[in-house]
Amino acid sequence: MPLSIQLLNKANAREITGWHYDPPYDFYNLNPNEIEQNIKYFLAPRNKFYSIFEEPREFVGYCSFGEDGQVPGGDYSMPGLDIGMGIRPNLTGQGRGHYYVAAVLDFAQRMFAPSIVRVTIALFNQRAIQVWTGVEFHTVDTFEY
Ligand SMILES: CC(C)(COP(=O)(O)OP(=O)(O)OC[C@H]1O[C@@H](n2cnc3c(N)ncnc32)[C@H](O)[C@@H]1OP(=O)(O)O)[C@@H](O)C(=O)NCCC(=O)NCCS
Repeated sequence: MPLSIQLLNKANAREITGWHYDPPYDFYNLNPNEIEQNIKYFLAPRNKFYSIFEEPREFVGYCSFGEDGQVPGGDYSMPGLDIGMGIRPNLTGQGRGHYYVAAVLDFAQRMFAPSIVRVTIALFNQRAIQVWTGVEFHTVDTFEY
């Protein structure tokens, strides 16, 4: 099924705040006491959050472009487009990561035409590292957070 990517709307932003990943990925779970703050953050234009839909209208994940994808302590001195993303918890771990990532990269290229694209991934998250390595990203730096 084809994927489409569109600006995140409020209903989908709210949905994300209720997502629960199982350990060890619970690292990505949001604080249930900060729902409204998180929705505000997702919808702020400067954070550039987009929805990923599996056609016709199934909301399967989100991606962000820019500062949201940066982690304190990282060296972001080289200009580049930082990508963040999250797939709906019940769709993860099914071998479809490369498919989602390829769609996000394709969209990023068309929308922002970056010369460099970058992701920052927690070292424990070998699943994410594997999927990005599979689309030919390679490690340029590691740091402690
Ligand atoms: C990161 C993410 C996009 C990956 O998508 P996914 O559909 O869950 O990933 P897949 O099931 O395709 O797994 C990706 C690869 O990791 C491998 N893998 C799965 N669990 C693994 C583990 N514990 N250790 C090493 N490799 C693992 C899979 O076998 C697969 O390898 P392959 O592509 O060679 O077949 C998705 O899990 C996600 O959104 N997670 C929550 C947010 C997050 O992790 N963000 C990190 C920054 S992108």
